Amino acid sequence: MKDKVVIITGGAMGLGYAAAQSLAAKGAKLVLVDYNEEKLKEAEASLTKDFDGLETLTVVADVSNEEAVKNYVNKTIEKFGRIDGFYNNAGIEGRQAPMTEYDLDVFKKVIDINLMGVYYGLRYVIPHMQKQGFGRIVNVASVGGIRGVVNQTAYVASKHAVSGMTKNAAIEYGKDGILTNAIAPGAILTPMVAEAFKQVNPDDPKAAEAEYAQHNPTRHLGDPKDVGNFVSYLLSEENGYVSGQTIAIDGGESNLYGNS
Ligand SMILES: NC(=O)c1ccc[n+]([C@@H]2O[C@H](COP(=O)([O-])OP(=O)(O)OC[C@H]3O[C@@H](n4cnc5c(N)ncnc54)[C@H](O)[C@@H]3O)[C@@H](O)[C@H]2O)c1
Repeated sequence: MKDKVVIITGGAMGLGYAAAQSLAAKGAKLVLVDYNEEKLKEAEASLTKDFDGLETLTVVADVSNEEAVKNYVNKTIEKFGRIDGFYNNAGIEGRQAPMTEYDLDVFKKVIDINLMGVYYGLRYVIPHMQKQGFGRIVNVASVGGIRGVVNQTAYVASKHAVSGMTKNAAIEYGKDGILTNAIAPGAILTPMVAEAFKQVNPDDPKAAEAEYAQHNPTRHLGDPKDVGNFVSYLLSEENGYVSGQTIAIDGGESNLYGNS
């Protein structure tokens, strides 16, 4: 990844930040995009401290805002002149509720960020990759993009859409040297997942976490680094022919039927 330019949305925390660490270690130049300005600055400071000579650009943007997406793409081109890799990662879980009781405003917000935000990113990044004749894209779906998840209708709908858009990007732009894949993480211990365990058991989120881990074949949750390292492979030239796939990173859990 030496000198490759990679945009990471949702780069301030969690899976975005873990991929940033892995890509920085491999010599990439990073554009970190997030709507949390404070966390974004903290992320940039800690990455530049940990990786000598790392070149970064940070852009505050809400990915559900089309103009903000155009802006982070334009700023990247102004500073670095190209986009080799795109980690289209920013997303939210929404609230947990049965389908017929799901709050409509939250539903729309989940779709705006997880579906429209990913789509705007593809819409404005791909033309630059086409001009270069090269690009690697990783969209972030979820196991909720290949399976149903009780009480998470909006999230599941949005992540299935991400998986679908991934297939279309792969078949429409493969001829331009652009390989597009999605990842489907299971439960990876990031701030988003910690928040979900608080919703499941507000008095004892750690107990909810332990209970959840019991159902995974590995009996533990994933580490953000597990995802970051795999994503940095998919974003590199080492990946020469994998495209259009939604790849689970879940300790095998999505293959399970019945008790483990
Ligand atoms: N952690 C998991 O187990 C898991 C599992 C499956 C899928 N995912 C997906 O991975 C992605 C990252 O999740 P995470 O666990 O790292 O979450 P996180 O909440 O820990 O981090 C998400 C980051 O994205 C940013 N963000 C959220 N909405 C944004 C917006 N509209 N515009 C710009 N930035 C925004 C947040 O500020 C934060 O920095 C999400 O798409 C999520 O759905 C995570």
